[in-house]
Amino acid sequence: LTPKRLAGERILVTAGPTLEEIDPVRFISNHSSGKMGYAIARQAQLKGAEVTLVTGPTALAAPHGVKVIRVQSAAEMRDAVMGLLERTDIVIKAAAVADYRPKSRSGEKMKKSAAALSIELEKNPDILAEIGGMKGERLLVGFAAETQELVKNATAKLNAKNLDLVVANDVSQEGAGFNVDTNIAKLLYRDGRVEALPMMGKEELAGEILERVELLRGEGAGK
Ligand code: PMT
Repeated sequence: LTPKRLAGERILVTAGPTLEEIDPVRFISNHSSGKMGYAIARQAQLKGAEVTLVTGPTALAAPHGVKVIRVQSAAEMRDAVMGLLERTDIVIKAAAVADYRPKSRSGEKMKKSAAALSIELEKNPDILAEIGGMKGERLLVGFAAETQELVKNATAKLNAKNLDLVVANDVSQEGAGFNVDTNIAKLLYRDGRVEALPMMGKEELAGEILERVELLRGEGAGK
């Protein structure tokens, strides 16, 4: 039996991609399967936490005992997350949120023509940065998906988004990142510590991340 070390904690997990519509049949998205975030939600529930999962479109079944809120776009994910924030102690953002969305969505299927086509994109809200700006007593865990300068770029995200812990994955490595069952992560802390973990299944990595969350909580982080 898993020790219920997160009993009493209200944990909000995000997972999956966001999907930004261009017209009724086309969209911009990414390769996130949701596996990493769903594994965290499942393991947190097993450790006794009260878990809400805000998820973009995935093919995965809802984890047992977890409240699931399904969204499509980054704007919808933001609204769902912000609405839950007051009743949340710990936020873990594994979702791959699209940084940009089409500036306008065509109501009709766009017609092909002989000319080239450009789609203007505008910035999506950075949900985690917004939460970091109103952190309060919450413990914040972000992910960083990088293809170069993993530690440098992830450290910048830790600082810019006011996080307690960043799970940095080099998504160009075999067996890491999007749409596979394993991951290879480096854990970055506020005090500059970097902990390199070997390749492992996403369920196992979820357990490792939550163990660090328990430790940080014990040290008073986010309180
Ligand atoms: O879903 P899987 O197939 O299992 O793949 C797992 C994963 C690769 C998606 C996951 O391990 C991962 O790295 N998730 C974060 C992906 C990402 O968008 O990283 P980022 O470096 O662009 O964003 C940094 C952090 O800010 C993330 O916690 C992200 O959720 C958050 N963010 C980013 C942009 C934005 N507009 N709002 C956000 O909240």
